[in-house]
Amino acid sequence: MDFTLSIIYLIASITFVIGLKMLGHPETARRGNLVAAAGMTLAILGTIFLFDGEVSTKVYALIGIAIVIGTIIGWMVAKKVAMTKMPELVSMFNGMGGASAALIGLIEFPHYTGHPLQISVILAGMIIGSISFAGSIIAWSKLNGTMRKPIRLPKYNILNNVIILAIIAYAVYFVYSGSDNYLLVFAIFGAALLYGILFVIPIGGADMPVVISLLNSFTGLAAAFGGFLYDNMVMLTGGILVGSAGTILTFAMCKAMNRPLSNVIFGAFGGESATGESGSTTGGSIKKTNPSDTAILMNYANKVIIVPGYGLAVAQAQHVIHELEELLVSRGVEVKYAIHPVAGRMPGHMNVLLAESNVDYDRLSEMEDINPEFANTDVVLVVGANDVVNPAAHNDPSSPIYGMPILDVENAKTIIINKRSMKPGYAGIENELFFNQKTSMLFGDAKDALTKVLSELKNM
Ligand code: TAP
Repeated sequence: MDFTLSIIYLIASITFVIGLKMLGHPETARRGNLVAAAGMTLAILGTIFLFDGEVSTKVYALIGIAIVIGTIIGWMVAKKVAMTKMPELVSMFNGMGGASAALIGLIEFPHYTGHPLQISVILAGMIIGSISFAGSIIAWSKLNGTMRKPIRLPKYNILNNVIILAIIAYAVYFVYSGSDNYLLVFAIFGAALLYGILFVIPIGGADMPVVISLLNSFTGLAAAFGGFLYDNMVMLTGGILVGSAGTILTFAMCKAMNRPLSNVIFGAFGGESATGESGSTTGGSIKKTNPSDTAILMNYANKVIIVPGYGLAVAQAQHVIHELEELLVSRGVEVKYAIHPVAGRMPGHMNVLLAESNVDYDRLSEMEDINPEFANTDVVLVVGANDVVNPAAHNDPSSPIYGMPILDVENAKTIIINKRSMKPGYAGIENELFFNQKTSMLFGDAKDALTKVLSELKNM
């Protein structure tokens, strides 16, 4: 390989590692993304122009056209996407990565017949990439509402396990027999696509962020097989990084929800009711409040903790909450934000949202740090959060969220909960906090309700 190209690959690999590290903090995340993207651009250009083989002008033209079309579509989609639609976009992009890895296998097979090691690598990359592609497209259609309900075939867990085991067994036999039958490779490809679909259709729409992260790790692994096949260091490094980051993220989300991955995949959790479209509450009487009383309470409080949740993102109320916080601080109230690790629908969702409205990072507190502070807090304002403050996680062993660490808001002196109705959140379960003596419900869309509270405060 060209020496300059090796150096370029080394630099690109280093940018991936540095970029990933920088993604770990909101302050450096944007730059981290750019650093890794610059490395990727360098690797792509290096591969195109320094590749030491025969490349016809026609192939160069095709590569150029593909890059231009892909860049325009990717740029436009990423520019337009709303924060709440981000998991959907990641899913689609991830699907494309899986498809690319699968296509490498399909295209390269005829070039490596008679080389069992390379054929094993090709089949492994193709199978994993196809599963990731098909699964990601299903995840995408679930998140955008095209596929509304989980589809659970009879004995779907057993069926799925039988299919994947059959695919693996057949692929092993295929390599062992030294077959060069291209049609059979397409059959394995088709079976892997089918498995990808069957793997994701039974899982509830709300569990998709975990599934996407898992599929992300599959794509990374499939790309790494491609890197191994081509002896391409940057592809191998990138694939391994994506694979391991996806795996770590998957388990981090499961840990924060206190659910084993097997429960996400086989648990039939997060079905229709978990979308928040059904289910009603029956747990006693609730106390309602209004923007004016909420403003008075907060204005005279010493300490206010804001708990943002998925509803804040839906309502796009991050700017108004920041304005409210600034006004309270200017009046001498101590204000903090309590960030639950799985609040919202994607990792770091609340951090990203609040960073968008320039909330000072120092005001954001992680769950472990803020939990002891609720006891000396006058007012907790819960905005569009539900499961992450549900005491059933502590008190009700039969609850699907039992054992999940939550924000202990019930220890505060007064609790104001803003949401639009009594409908449940992601887990589809009732929240006894709404019926707590200390709780008042401020019904309404978060942006509308908080705007009214803000204007009341301004008039005080
Ligand atoms: P949820 O439990 O989903 O509750 C969100 C609440 O927001 C709903 O009860 C909804 O009630 C309210 N809401 C929706 N739109 C609103 C609006 N426009 N204005 C005001 N309120 C609105 O959210 P959470 O507390 O943030 O918890 C997140 C859940 O997602 C957890 O169960 C977590 O396990 C799960 N999850 C998270 C992730 C990550 S990584 N963040 C990944 C997978 C799953 P109304 O309809 O009555 O308004």
